[in-house]
Amino acid sequence: MARFSLGVVMAMALTAGCGGGGGGQPPAPPAGGGADASGLSAFQLEHGIGPVTEAVTLADVDPKLVETGKGLFEVKCTACHKIAERYVGPPLNDVLTKRSPTYVMNMILNPNEMVERHPVAKQLLGEYMTLMANQSLTIEEARAILEYLRTQTQGAPSAQ
Ligand code: HEC
Repeated sequence: MARFSLGVVMAMALTAGCGGGGGGQPPAPPAGGGADASGLSAFQLEHGIGPVTEAVTLADVDPKLVETGKGLFEVKCTACHKIAERYVGPPLNDVLTKRSPTYVMNMILNPNEMVERHPVAKQLLGEYMTLMANQSLTIEEARAILEYLRTQTQGAPSAQ
């Protein structure tokens, strides 16, 4: 039996909708609740999928946390990331201009599910063709790395 892609089914539904007076049911509205075709909530689309389920709010940069984050970054991340250039993974000096701090933490803490389910991370995997390794960090450690990345960011950081 033939299987139709979603696009084909939608195109058929649209065509049917335009035809004069056919007896068909109108197409069902898309599932509500802020989910899009990826099945993710609006929160997950903006902030990623992972253990951080409330948007992180940032205060002034905390130098002690930066120090901790820098040390962790050097041990856990530099095998694949450089701050200012593409390496195994993308450069990270502009990540906070493109993604929310919460998204960055969820990517650090839950990279496998992120590249499987989040459209942005999926696309990056397509570009870099390497899976980011889960470094089994705690939320506090990911938060410290985020603080370090704040100090390495060029350009305006995203709002929250
Ligand atoms: C094994 C290599 C590897 C390691 C180790 C690694 N990463 Fe990654 N990282 C990647 C790759 C490759 C990507 C692009 C997505 C993909 O292909 O999985 C990525 C993506 C990211 C992203 C998303 C960038 C964006 O533009 O959305 C962030 C943030 C990130 N890494 C931070 C880190 C941090 C922080 C660490 C250390 C805790 C780390 N990564 C460790 C390879 C790695």
